[in-house]
Formats: sequence, C-alpha cells, structure tokens
Amino acid sequence: MSRSGLLALVILMIGLSVGTAPARAQNGGVVNVYSARHYGAMEATFTRFTEETGIQVRLSQGTVQSLLERLRAEGSQTPADAFFSIDAGTLDLAADEGLLQAVESDVLIGAIPEDLRHPENLWFGVSQRLRVIAYNPATVDPAELSTVEQLADPIWKDRLCLRPATHIYTISLTGSLIAAYGAEAAQAIVNGWVANNPEYIDSDTRIVETIEAGGCDVGLVNQYYVARKISENPDYPVRVFWPNQAEDQRGVFRNISGIGVTAAALNRENAVRLIEWMATDGQSADATGIPGGNFEYPVNPEAEIHPILEAFGPFVIDPLPLTEYGALQAQAITVLEQAGYGF
Ligand SMILES: [Fe+2]
Repeated sequence: MSRSGLLALVILMIGLSVGTAPARAQNGGVVNVYSARHYGAMEATFTRFTEETGIQVRLSQGTVQSLLERLRAEGSQTPADAFFSIDAGTLDLAADEGLLQAVESDVLIGAIPEDLRHPENLWFGVSQRLRVIAYNPATVDPAELSTVEQLADPIWKDRLCLRPATHIYTISLTGSLIAAYGAEAAQAIVNGWVANNPEYIDSDTRIVETIEAGGCDVGLVNQYYVARKISENPDYPVRVFWPNQAEDQRGVFRNISGIGVTAAALNRENAVRLIEWMATDGQSADATGIPGGNFEYPVNPEAEIHPILEAFGPFVIDPLPLTEYGALQAQAITVLEQAGYGF
C-alpha cells in the first residue's frame, strides 16, 4: 500500500471510531416486545430508552387478547421477550399459564409499590389508568353524577356513550362490578346500561369527541383521553368526573399498563433492563405526559404527576387486587352477552 493510501486508511479508521456511538450503545442488542399500547403514545419513550441504552425495541402490536393468543400458540417458540399489556387481568392469565417468568430485581421492588406488581414478580405495572366519567358541562350538572353504576339510571337514556363488549376496557370494568356486588347485581347494572340505549363507539378518543360534539352527554373513558385533548386545547370543554368517590362507595376502577418477561425470552437481560428503565427513568415520559407520553399516572411514587392530571384532583381507587382481574374476565363476558351489550 502506498504512503498516501495508508494515510487515507488511518484517517478513515479514526473517522470511524470517532463517528461510532459508545460501545454500550453499539452492543445494546434488541428486545422484542408484544405490545398492546398505542404506538404513538410509546414512540418517544422507546426512542429515549434506545438512546440511553443502545437497545433497539422491536414492537409487534395487537389487542391484549390477540397478543395473549399469540403467546399461547407460539409457546417456547415465541420471538417475544416481553408482553406489554394495557390490562392486569390479561397479564395475570399469561402468568397463570406459565407464559411469563419471574424477575428478581431490587430496582423494580424499590420503584413499584407492592399492589402494582405480581406477588411472584411475573409482571410489573408501569403506569396507572382510571376509568372515569367524561361529561359535557353544557348539558350535565356534575351533581347529577355519582357512580358508573348510576349510569344505569333511566335519566341517562339516549345520553350515554360506551366502548363495545369486545374491548378489554369494558370487560375489566364489568369484572370489577362482579367482584364488588356479585354476578347477579352486576348483571342488573349492565342491563341498565344497555336499557339506556348507549351509543357504542370503539375508541375512547371518539367517545370524548362525540361528547364534545353533543352526540352524548356522558361516557366512560380512561382519564388520559381527556388529558390529551386538554394538552392540545386548555379550554377543551369535556370534563372528567371521578366516579364512586363517596365514603361508602368502592372508588374509581383502576387498570394498569404492565409488562412481564416471557418464559421463552432470548433477550432476557434486555427485557429486564427495559422494565427497570420504564419503572424509573422512563416514568416521566411514559406515565405523566411529557411529549410522547400518555397522561397516565406513574406507578413510581418518586415520579412527578403531570399538571393536567393534578388539575383533575385527588381520587380514591377501588381496592380490588389486580391479581383478581384475570379470573373475572370470563364471567364478565358472560354478563355482557346476557345483557345484549353491543359489540
Ligand atoms: Fe387506551
């Protein structure tokens, strides 16, 4: 090789080493996630995780039910390292069926309160979502509102927007009625909702928008759908009402976004790293609504709560343990079917 050729090679090598990301990032590898989360809500969060760790997040998306079906069908052959769910019950079913593995992590034990993770560390909640009543203050006096059960009262006839029976948000909420009152009383409540001739809309965003447009006066949605609208327009007219808050009532129904490492994970360490990051550094972006976040409540008590959520005020949560949600799903589906609830 000529002297100038050698010089060019040395310059090229220096250039390569200077231009390369740190070794940790270069060797970060991947983590394959089956995710039921809306992609838009997680994009910035996963980008930040990749920037900080060099680990690429590869997502496969679907409903919680379809992803659980895939995990069951694939068994030990699944490419998924982690199952990221928007429902505690579905995580619990996956755990009971041996599809998830325990993760012993002091970081996770320290970051996530006990009631927001599986007792044997098979899954971990990373954010909290509350099923609230959204209402139009032009047509509803909040004094008329009290509980989700009271939406079965005939005063809400032709004024109610609900998510269909097939969606996990409806199934898990109905499960909480069964847990609180028994199947028979839960059936009467759901029958009452159906008798009010609700408009079934398979998108919480569109439920909020329909309330805004006057198509419904009230609806059941997760709080972050209203928070998102307020983040775009501080004067957004639809309001959040915290249901079931009186002293003798059960509190607002809570679910989580949660994640577990699959039993068959090939990238186990990266999956654990992702969960630890989500429960610590990722809490602000994931849970509280920094751009790219989703206006959910953090699980980590150290994390700040977004001002839009602070403005919703304090609330009491239904104490039903997350580990009971899975077993309630089948009963809830039966109640919804028997009521003739729309799907
Ligand atoms: Fe959602």
